[in-house]
Amino acid sequence: MQLQVAPSILSADFANLGRDIRMLNRSADIIHFDVMDGSFVPNISFGFPVMKAVAEIAKIPMDAHLMVVNPHKWFESCAKSGVSMLSFHLEAAGRKTSGNLAAIRSLGMKAGLVINPDIPVQRLFPYIGKADYFLIMSVFAGFGGQKFIYESLDRVAALKAELEARGDAALIEVDGGVNASNAAALAAAGADILVAGSSVFSAKDPEAAIASIRNAQ
Ligand code: DX5
Ligand code: ZN
Repeated sequence: MQLQVAPSILSADFANLGRDIRMLNRSADIIHFDVMDGSFVPNISFGFPVMKAVAEIAKIPMDAHLMVVNPHKWFESCAKSGVSMLSFHLEAAGRKTSGNLAAIRSLGMKAGLVINPDIPVQRLFPYIGKADYFLIMSVFAGFGGQKFIYESLDRVAALKAELEARGDAALIEVDGGVNASNAAALAAAGADILVAGSSVFSAKDPEAAIASIRNAQ
């Protein structure tokens, strides 16, 4: 399957967000939204008014990554704001994880489960079959512009092997410090969707940056 690129608008120019979304419509596969509550992570980003405004002009799927406590409180609002792929952290959901994944699916969205780099990747395995995609963080959630953690490649490969052994079609998304130099290794390890914030939006030519990530494999 062709590698998909999901630019994170956390690094977009919010004073020119419409322009940046139109650029993503032309060149990206998915729009990634990093929703932070200042509690699960030490930072606050944006919420539903921004997602709704983007939904008015987005022509590609909207993927929201919830970095919030009690993520289940917000699933319905995400669905109503135009989100079609929705992920939350295993660390935030605990015993509610299976129910959360089912709730997201029942709202008609694809359900994603995320882990930070300090959570063993095997902790995702009980949810295979219940999730449509898994998001492996390759930096600690909370901020854009951090350095890619190379051990993430082994985590992606371990998850890919388990999915293949079980014949499961869930996709693997990777988020944090992704750029054209690590994209090929990520694709080879089994990643299907690459999130990229600063490497896209700080590039002189963001459309070319997206293409070089996608064509890295
Ligand atoms: C981190 C976010 C990422 C981040 C990616 O909390 O989940 O999506 O914005 O940004 P870069 O690509 O700059 O690491
Ligand atoms: Zn993210």
